[in-house]
Amino acid sequence: MTSAIRPRRLRATPAMRRLVAETRVSASQLVLPVFVREGLDEPRPINSLPGVSQHSLDSLADVVDAAANAGLGGVMLFAVPQVRDAVGTQASLPEGILNRAISVANEAAAGRLVVMADLCLDEFTDHGHCGVLGEDGSVDNDATLEVYASMALAQAAAGAEVLGLSGMMDGQVAAVREALEGAGHTNTAILAYSAKYASAFYGPFRDAVESQLEGDRRTYQMNPANRSEGLLEAALDETEGADIVMVKPALPYLDVLADVAAASAIPVAAYHVSGEYAQIEAAAANGWIDRRTAHVEAVTSIARAGADIILTYAALELSEWLA
Ligand code: PBG
Repeated sequence: MTSAIRPRRLRATPAMRRLVAETRVSASQLVLPVFVREGLDEPRPINSLPGVSQHSLDSLADVVDAAANAGLGGVMLFAVPQVRDAVGTQASLPEGILNRAISVANEAAAGRLVVMADLCLDEFTDHGHCGVLGEDGSVDNDATLEVYASMALAQAAAGAEVLGLSGMMDGQVAAVREALEGAGHTNTAILAYSAKYASAFYGPFRDAVESQLEGDRRTYQMNPANRSEGLLEAALDETEGADIVMVKPALPYLDVLADVAAASAIPVAAYHVSGEYAQIEAAAANGWIDRRTAHVEAVTSIARAGADIILTYAALELSEWLA
């Protein structure tokens, strides 16, 4: 060893490593996804997502309060209704479970974090697809946009500050933006799930929302083989009026995330999804990996690739680990 250039110098002590860290993750950029189930009077654990529960409206308020106290940036609400139908009627009713959850979360948050709501039909349809079906049984893009527009108005009226458009219909951002502007909800932001892949890593989420889906979502979610198309989707959403774009899942798509982060003038989010979380939990439960280190490494890697905002089921614990 003759060279005087020794990169190991900057790795020698914890203090030195902390000083020269290129990526710093803070609680304020983390968003906790929260599930609310109609008809529950206490939280019900989700088997495939250890540590995560379906909440009642009461326990939702407690979680939101805890999230705010932990300094998290926001919560993303998903809801499971008791009654589902072909067109997802409950999604747009003011007394529908998701819209009630938005008001409860808003009150509990009291401005301390950002309340976001999932805008998609899969939890509300009896067939489990993200949109309404045409006569041939396929998802009808443009008919779905009309339902998304009314869903958006209901969510904005309930007090959602950010709408998470996760349905992957073409033109959904423009349709929702136009509806919001038309109704005077000019301050309601849109987080577009722009590059959302048809992924096996959503498995535990389908348990969490008691999904009715048979088959798959490959005619609307993206093919995991495609990278450039992720850029195209994000660019379209930015043009259509998205305030934030997202790549999802996160770790298997860091290349797409880095591309989108480099190209976007607006904030970029990434979703460390249910199956990514569950992989860590399952391996840790077997003693095969260290749970805390794995979660911190995952979120750090997602931020390093370019995410400004990260949705993760580990957000509450991460807020302590990162402090
Ligand atoms: C659809 C939606 C899904 C997720 C978030 N929004 C499931 C899907 O597209 O099948 C998955 C999130 C996760 O796996 O954590 N509304």
